[in-house]
Amino acid sequence: MGSISLLEKPHVVCIPFPAQGHINPMLKLAKLLHQKGFHVTFVNTEFNHGRLLKSRGPDSLKGLASFRFETIPDGLPISDADATQDIPSLCESTTNTCLAPFKDLLSRLNDTVSSNVPPVSCIISDGIMSFTVEAAEELGIPEVLFWTASACGFLAYTQYAKLIEKGYAPLKDASYLTNGYLDTIIADEIPGMEGIRLKDIPSFIRTTSLDEYMVKFVLQETERALRASAIIFNTFEDLEQDCIKTLSSILPPVYAIGPLHFLQKDVTDKSLEHLGSNLWKEDLQCLEWLDSKEPNSVVYVNFGSIAVMTPKQLIEFAWGLANSNQTFLWIIRPDLVTGEDAILPPEFLEATRERGMLANWCPQEKVLSHPSIGGFLTHCGWNSTLESVGSGVPMICWPFFADQQTNCWFSCTKWGIGMEIGSDVKRDEMEILVNELMIGEKGKEMKKRALEWMKLAQDSAKNPEGPSYKNLEKLVHQVLLSTK
Ligand code: UDX
Repeated sequence: MGSISLLEKPHVVCIPFPAQGHINPMLKLAKLLHQKGFHVTFVNTEFNHGRLLKSRGPDSLKGLASFRFETIPDGLPISDADATQDIPSLCESTTNTCLAPFKDLLSRLNDTVSSNVPPVSCIISDGIMSFTVEAAEELGIPEVLFWTASACGFLAYTQYAKLIEKGYAPLKDASYLTNGYLDTIIADEIPGMEGIRLKDIPSFIRTTSLDEYMVKFVLQETERALRASAIIFNTFEDLEQDCIKTLSSILPPVYAIGPLHFLQKDVTDKSLEHLGSNLWKEDLQCLEWLDSKEPNSVVYVNFGSIAVMTPKQLIEFAWGLANSNQTFLWIIRPDLVTGEDAILPPEFLEATRERGMLANWCPQEKVLSHPSIGGFLTHCGWNSTLESVGSGVPMICWPFFADQQTNCWFSCTKWGIGMEIGSDVKRDEMEILVNELMIGEKGKEMKKRALEWMKLAQDSAKNPEGPSYKNLEKLVHQVLLSTK
């Protein structure tokens, strides 16, 4: 965009859903757009702003003249906890309370005399913050929804209404959660997902009441997506071709621009390097520890920022790892275990002292791309899945909620890079799967497939001729720089 003055730049307001797996990809996209000449306003919630200051220090949020942070309240009671907020409550409170402060912020930014920034020319909002569509419509500017989770998960969400109509939900009573009903194959209902089971559909459909907030929320967000100027997915066409094609036929223009962490590597704009989005303090020692390990010899275990488990599940995972005799790096978030601190038996710690490392939080992208990592036990959050694909690392999948079930099914049955472990995890099953992953025939086959996907991901996003790379260019010129 050459040397235009600060106040003439196009101005994008980026507003992520206030959870780790959403802030990370939005910040990456915001940095890319800044590099492409946009003035960026990045909107965090007050709660997360406080957490970022705590985990990363004030410099981490020190913007530039042309990249600034703003905050709005999330509508939940004030808390100084250093933990993930309850997701359904957060969905409900952002939907019901954030539009007014967001519109106030836009008015302040558009008062260019006092704000000293260019007028807002487009909004990029998280796909589950679709209330922002109203603000964009009022201003007459393009509104792009960034669906930070998978295309397959979004496609499954768009089928909720049909699945309800066909009687798959609500469940007759709670016994249907455990009586095998969830194994029902949804006969050819969703194109590209033939053979998928009810349990592989994003988890909120498993309800006995359609009054449950998350069901209403999914129906509302998928409906409102139709009002956006465009929808972005952090995925690449080779990986989710069929789903992207189907979504393109029912949604506003779709742009697959992932994996964003590859496009990100292109960023030469060092002025933004210090800006990070980790809500917990990273333990960097684990990278040194990985340096001392042989290639492909370490199992990496991490369940993301939201998943929780019972103390019993923690113990089963622990003994499965110990009994496998494999070397492991296990990240145990301080709030990983329900109702109490994660307490591991001293016998487990003693048995694995030589070959196990434990930490609270790590720089995951760096860990996954470390040559010593041979496999990943994951909850299948979309960022984790994509980071694993991008590093050529096969997975054991323990999906917890939301689209993670669908990501797991695709990883295991379509992409050939995952093995599912039962939600009611048992140490013997865990031991067998960890060994299969690290030294078994199936593990070798999955590794081969994972490396093939890695190559396709690189070709798509790192190569200027690749579809993701080009889609980002198209998004900028066809949508973000257009006037409505
Ligand atoms: C949530 C939902 O759970 C998921 O289903 C949806 O797809 C996205 O939002 P989350 O559970 O946090 O995400 O998982 P994930 O999507 O994997 O995102 C976690 C992010 O935190 C990743 O980018 C990962 O690299 C990062 N992370 C995680 C770290 O940097 N260090 C850690 O120790 C753990």
